[in-house]
Formats: sequence, C-alpha cells, structure tokens
Amino acid sequence: VLLVRRPVGIPQPQDFALDTVAVPPPGDGEILVRNIYLSVDPAQRGWAADVSNYSDPVALNGPMRALAVGQVIESNAEGVDSGTYIYGWLGWQDYTVITPSAILTRIEAPTVPLSAYAGPLGINGMTAWLALSTIGRPAPGETVLVSTAAGAVGSIVGQLARRTGCTPIGLTGDDAKAARCVERFGYDRAINYKAGDVGAAIARAAPDGIHVFFDNVGGEILDVVLRQMQTGGRIVQCGTASVASWSPPPTGPRVEREVLTRRLNWGGFVIFDHAARFSETAHALAEMIRNGELTYEEEIEIGIEGAPGALARLYAGENQGKKLIFIG
Ligand SMILES: NC(=O)c1ccc[n+]([C@@H]2O[C@H](COP(=O)([O-])OP(=O)(O)OC[C@H]3O[C@@H](n4cnc5c(N)ncnc54)[C@H](OP(=O)(O)O)[C@@H]3O)[C@@H](O)[C@H]2O)c1
Repeated sequence: VLLVRRPVGIPQPQDFALDTVAVPPPGDGEILVRNIYLSVDPAQRGWAADVSNYSDPVALNGPMRALAVGQVIESNAEGVDSGTYIYGWLGWQDYTVITPSAILTRIEAPTVPLSAYAGPLGINGMTAWLALSTIGRPAPGETVLVSTAAGAVGSIVGQLARRTGCTPIGLTGDDAKAARCVERFGYDRAINYKAGDVGAAIARAAPDGIHVFFDNVGGEILDVVLRQMQTGGRIVQCGTASVASWSPPPTGPRVEREVLTRRLNWGGFVIFDHAARFSETAHALAEMIRNGELTYEEEIEIGIEGAPGALARLYAGENQGKKLIFIG
C-alpha cells in the first residue's frame, strides 16, 4: 500500500494506492518476512503528514509505514532464525525485507494469540503500561481519567489503573463503548463525551477532581479537564486524536495559569523512546493475559484492500478495540 498523496487532516482512501511488485531476495544481513497482522494506528496520521512530528514523514509513493506481526521466511541475518515470529516495522505490505533493527519484539514462542502481539502486547498495551507508570504515576485511591477509554490503549489503561487501586473514569464516543468500559475494562464509570456537557459530566463523576489525566485526544476535552485537575495532578499527553489538523496550529484558552496554580506535571510520551523496556513489558502483559488478569478486544478486517480506508474508519471511532488487518 503506497502513500501517493500527502493527507490533509485524517488520511483518506484516495491518499493511498495498491501496487504489486516482485518480492526482492534478502541481501546480506537482511531478512524476508511474510506479514500476517497489519496494525492500524492513529499515529500513522502523523507519520504520513508533512508537519513537525517525532519522526520523518513517510516518503511519497513509498510503502506506508506501519507496525505488523509477521514470520521470518528467509534470513541472512545473524541471530534471526527462519520461522521466528516478530513484531516491528514491516509496513502495509504482504512481504518485507528488513534488517533486524526494524524488529521491536521477537515472539519466541507465542503463548497468547498471535494478533495480541500487535495490540495489548504491541505499542498499544506497552504505551498504556509505560506512560501510566512513568508519567501518570497513579497512587492507590486516586482518580484517573482516560480519553479513548474503549480503544486499544485506553482499555488497557483502565485495567492497570484499577489494579493499582485507583478509580478509573473513561471518556469515549458512544454509549455502547461506555458500557464496555465499565463491564470489561475496569472503569468505575464511563462518559459518552458526545452526549452533552462533558465538563459537567466529569465534575459529577469526579467531584473532588482528577489526579491523573491519561489524555489521548487533546483539544477541547483537555481544555475542560485542565480546570478540574487536583493540585499536584499529572497529565500524560499520549495522543491528540481530537485535533483535526496541526497546520495551522489551532488555538484555545491559555493554560499556563492552570498548570502553575494547580502545580501540574504535564508530560509528553512517545513509546519509541522506551525500546529498552519493550521485551520485559510485553512479557509482563502476556503473563497477565494468560492469568486472566487482562482482557482486550480487537477488530480484525480481512485483506490488504481494507488498509487505505482503515485510518478514516479508526478516526470515525468505528473500531471496537484494537484495529488490525489480517492478510494471512
Ligand atoms: N504517544 C505514543 O507513543 C502513543 C502510542 C500508541 C498510541 N498513542 C495514542 O493513543 C491514542 C489511542 O490509540 P489507539 O491505538 O488505542 O486507538 P483506538 O483508541 O483504538 O482508536 C482511536 C479512537 O480515537 C477516538 N477518536 C477518534 N477521533 C476522535 C476525536 N475527534 N475526539 C476524541 N476521540 C476521538 C475514537 O474513540 P471514541 O469513539 O472513544 O472517540 C477511536 O476509536 C491515539 O491518540 C494514539 O495516537 C500514542
């Protein structure tokens, strides 16, 4: 799947094109991977855009950057055996030739379904764990508010916060997702932010304020929550899904007085800064899934033809859990 046009805002199907080329043989030090589960991540919008980000933009007319789970089918790289399953930078394509540096985690002997390595054990679950523990630092008894609470990251944050003895409150885009947050993902309460005055609903759910805001959306919801933070509260800036475009940067109410008077700690998080902890974090999350302590949902489309429209559907909130494309 090639990126053929720079998206304006949310990537649309017309920004991509399907192309067929011969599979190249792996060179010295390279491996050939057959991709199985392609990941669909909100971050791909930023990777495809030409505005400032934490990584270079995807090259036009090149394969779309993406994470995926695949199997090594030929290896000329030391220490990577043919047959091994891996999770890493494989792109939206059927086969990929990479060097081992493109591997995020090696799936030595899969102990949970393979798809989980691209979701709860992939960047989504690892972000939930690492961003919550390093920036959110919730203590038992605290109130933790989470946006995109029913999604791949948010559904894990709720369960981890609950395990820590906190009161997790979720924000999500419809009533059915809100119900699942409470029934399945450890949330004490969940608010449909499209159903009315979200600030008033948060104040009712957390009358004493918010200790930790795990924010995946930014924008107007963040503006409202900033004014309901407890003194000494922590904000994890993990995503900005609600901001349709950063060019030009949108404006909003000034926030520095809230940060100062409430003594807030507001930290940005990028999962790729934490590569040294990927393996231990994925192992810990896998153990929790095996023990029945962590649940997850996934929405799996079949066929690579679905990839060009997948981000638009994700940003429309149509996904129920981690969005993946199975290409077999
Ligand atoms: N910083 C990092 O390293 C890192 C790593 C992974 C993910 N993330 C971030 O975490 C967030 C969630 O990612 P995910 O993979 O778990 O995806 P996800 O939550 O499974 O799917 C994205 C969700 O975003 C919500 N959304 C879309 N447009 C929105 C809008 N205008 N306002 C509010 N919510 C909107 C929708 O849920 P609702 O129906 O609930 O609105 C949608 O289902 C994203 O912001 C992503 O960029 C960050």
